[in-house]
Amino acid sequence: MRFSLALIALVSAVGVPAIALRPAQDTFVTPTSSNFADTSSGFVDLERIQAILAQQTDPVEAMLLIDPSMAKELAEPRLLQLFNGKDAGGEPKWMTEGDKMGLRRQGIDWIDLTGRDSLVSPDFDARPNVPDISHQAQVRKVFPHLSPTNMFEMLEVFTSYYNRVYTSESGVKSQRWLFDEITDIVRKAPPTCRLSIEQFPHAYPQNSIIARFSPPGKRNTSQPVTIISAHLDSVNFWFPLLDAPGADDNGSGSATILEAFRALVNVGFEPEHGPVEFHWTAGEEAGLLGALDIAEEYQSRGVRVNGVLNVDETAFIKANSTPAINLIKVGATEKLNKWVHKLAREYADVDVKFSGMVGRGLDHQAWTKHGYPAVSIVEGDQAEGGWLPFPHTVMDRTTIPPSIGEFSYEHMKQFAKVAVAFAIEQAGSVDHAWRPSRPLPTSTAKP
Ligand SMILES: *[C@@H]1O[C@H](CO)[C@@H](O)[C@H](O)[C@H]1NC(C)=O
Repeated sequence: MRFSLALIALVSAVGVPAIALRPAQDTFVTPTSSNFADTSSGFVDLERIQAILAQQTDPVEAMLLIDPSMAKELAEPRLLQLFNGKDAGGEPKWMTEGDKMGLRRQGIDWIDLTGRDSLVSPDFDARPNVPDISHQAQVRKVFPHLSPTNMFEMLEVFTSYYNRVYTSESGVKSQRWLFDEITDIVRKAPPTCRLSIEQFPHAYPQNSIIARFSPPGKRNTSQPVTIISAHLDSVNFWFPLLDAPGADDNGSGSATILEAFRALVNVGFEPEHGPVEFHWTAGEEAGLLGALDIAEEYQSRGVRVNGVLNVDETAFIKANSTPAINLIKVGATEKLNKWVHKLAREYADVDVKFSGMVGRGLDHQAWTKHGYPAVSIVEGDQAEGGWLPFPHTVMDRTTIPPSIGEFSYEHMKQFAKVAVAFAIEQAGSVDHAWRPSRPLPTSTAKP
């Protein structure tokens, strides 16, 4: 989560553009007009919200005028570690759920550590798997299956939801739509793939999604897991009831790893040394809530993890800048960062850099805080202003004015290549060359 305050203020005055294409699988009853905001208590007249926001500068007060039933939730105490602002770097601080709205408006980023009592000390030395990079043929065989068109089509639908807030109805609908997409890929998988899909539940309505490739043989939960993740939620940082298409932040990450997943399924990927999991996480924009739940559960079950590659915004190329894959240093595992740098140099066709950015909450930190090795890759370098200047606003769409930059599906594809390479170089890939190339005879037996 991050933002540029001035631009948020600016674009929040622009109003809410019409909602595009609605997914066919939409089973909820929704208003046909876009003049309604999606709240926890149903759909609310957007004109009324705008009128209240024009009068009431405090977001908590505004929310209570719009939806008094939110009072209890907004007063809930939350333990927040702040990444920037005057309280950055200190001990986590008790604030309230409602305070998060004010923090967002001030451009302050945080991780929500409420109730997390199994965090490791900050100097814990996580041990990543850093094997020699040696699977060039198997990795490169997957690249022709990566399709920018697929990513475009996925984002057309994913960003058409009013927002993907973890507590909202459209947040649940968008997550279920993504689950259906993943299920569809799994349904068409070749027989070599051993796939499972899970909806991982949280304390709020939006689920995370985990899709897993298993290695050959009987299930062995002692084997180390390789994880590739992106968050599926989005939020408008000016006010959470406004719309948030979240195309770049982080629809682009979700679309990028979905395409990597699809391509690996297409080639019948079967990991050799342990499972490979793809995670689409919920509630990231509220303080990494989804990834924290998953990491905490893995830690409590004693799951071993080779490494986590988190993929965040991947599509934006600033005008007149050189496209690059950036590794975030803050809260990341240094040894794994160096390894992913080498990996991306080997397989991506763009520059690879370490980002100078500080003060940012990204899902990799949910893992490193639980003692697991993890890193994040993102577009551009925020320290050089190379990130989308208006995430978390109504402007986070796939159409960007050329004077500002470009929303590039080719750039996303470079990140998808790194995700594919991460899966295969970490977990190996069973060579299926010995399998019969003839199609199997069609069964004539009655069921
Ligand atoms: C399960 O995996 C672990 C770790 O790779 C390995 O040491 C162990 O031998 C495996 N167990 C079986 C029954 O294959």
